[in-house]
Amino acid sequence: MRVLIIGGGGREHALAWKIAQSPMLTDLFIAPGNPGAAAHGTIVPIAADDIAALVDFARTQHIDLVIPGPEIPLALGITDALAAAGIACFGPTRAAAQLEASKWFTKQICDQAGIPTAAWAGFTDAGAARAHLATHPAPIVIKADGLAGGKGVVVAMTDDEADAAITAMLEDRRHGESGASIVIEECMTGTEMSLFALCDGKTALFCGTAMDHKRVGENDTGPNTGGMGAIAPHPAATPALIDTVMDRIIRPTLAMMAAQGTPFRGFLFAGLMLTDAGPRLIEFNARFGDPECEALMPLLASDPLPILNAAAHGTLDPATRLAWRDGAAASVIIAARGYPGAYAQGGVIDLAGVSGVEHVMVFQAGTRRHGNRLVSAGGRVLAVTAVATDRRDAIDRAYQAVDAISFIEGFCRRDIGANYH
Ligand code: AMP
Ligand code: GLY
Repeated sequence: MRVLIIGGGGREHALAWKIAQSPMLTDLFIAPGNPGAAAHGTIVPIAADDIAALVDFARTQHIDLVIPGPEIPLALGITDALAAAGIACFGPTRAAAQLEASKWFTKQICDQAGIPTAAWAGFTDAGAARAHLATHPAPIVIKADGLAGGKGVVVAMTDDEADAAITAMLEDRRHGESGASIVIEECMTGTEMSLFALCDGKTALFCGTAMDHKRVGENDTGPNTGGMGAIAPHPAATPALIDTVMDRIIRPTLAMMAAQGTPFRGFLFAGLMLTDAGPRLIEFNARFGDPECEALMPLLASDPLPILNAAAHGTLDPATRLAWRDGAAASVIIAARGYPGAYAQGGVIDLAGVSGVEHVMVFQAGTRRHGNRLVSAGGRVLAVTAVATDRRDAIDRAYQAVDAISFIEGFCRRDIGANYH
């Protein structure tokens, strides 16, 4: 098979690393990729949001399967455009990607399918939203309906904060059209868990759990980021919990999406709150998680390529199960100082200390080559992943690898997985 992976982050490097091991693969292309992903395939200098150029490349290069990593090409309709050109894509159509691109859409699906989630109401009018606050005091959660790069959620601890969030989104249009409609939600409490399912439109295959660390600072302080590290599997992920989420959240969503004419194909990422009343959905993403993917790919024993291909064609065998290695993985993000705010690029990175270290994989995200040097070129720069027989050893090994990397302008959280020793 000739495969094209779209994206240039750590997630796409991890996918490329895993898929490159498939006996089914003849050629792997990654657009735009990064210097790490280049070790596993051919880098194609096309941006992840240049749909026309990506489809043109896939057609002229006779690509058999396209695997989009990030949400942007999905929300722009890459799957639809490829389908029109007769090319298989393991990703949702634009209509199905609304599960990530519109929180309002997802809440309606939840109501229709009886999925456990936070109570909610949707608003386009600031006055009506403020009136709702009068009967629903803080803590309360205010969300921009559309994609906002992870910045569209305000967990308001006071009524003033909630009021300010409504003003910022509906009146000041801080998130542009993404915030022209908002969802106001009950604030749930509990432990968060990421759960992944591999879907073909009808059938959902469990594809792992992980615990992400979204805040930039240790002990979950500071602003939200794309994710500062992950451990997998999630420490609370018992087989019974996984079955509950698959049966009460994932499968009913898939059935409802199919029933309304927008079947979901691709990775379905459920962000869950493990509450006293059981698991409840926080949100869906229409893609794999980053850095969850960097933690889960090294634990996956199965060859994903035939399964992704079957799913892309809507022919996943419901009896299929993914095989996983025993043990655990930890992935620590090294970010550029200043992230998630302004940060400098061009910091020199030296990975020589970890190259060839057993059970450690350094997935690259925001990196580029400058002459014969590797330098930083983004906020999240490296995802340093280790696997071991238990979580504690995986975490220790990941930090040993972090300490063997030279990247003076970088920083990481030292407490990835630390609350679950
Ligand atoms: P999201 O961008 O939707 O993943 O939300 C970012 C973060 O906000 C989540 O990871 C949660 O920590 C928090 N959050 C979102 N919705 C809720 C909710 N209804 N109750 C409590 N926390 C929430
Ligand atoms: N790690 C969370 C995400 O990928 O959105």
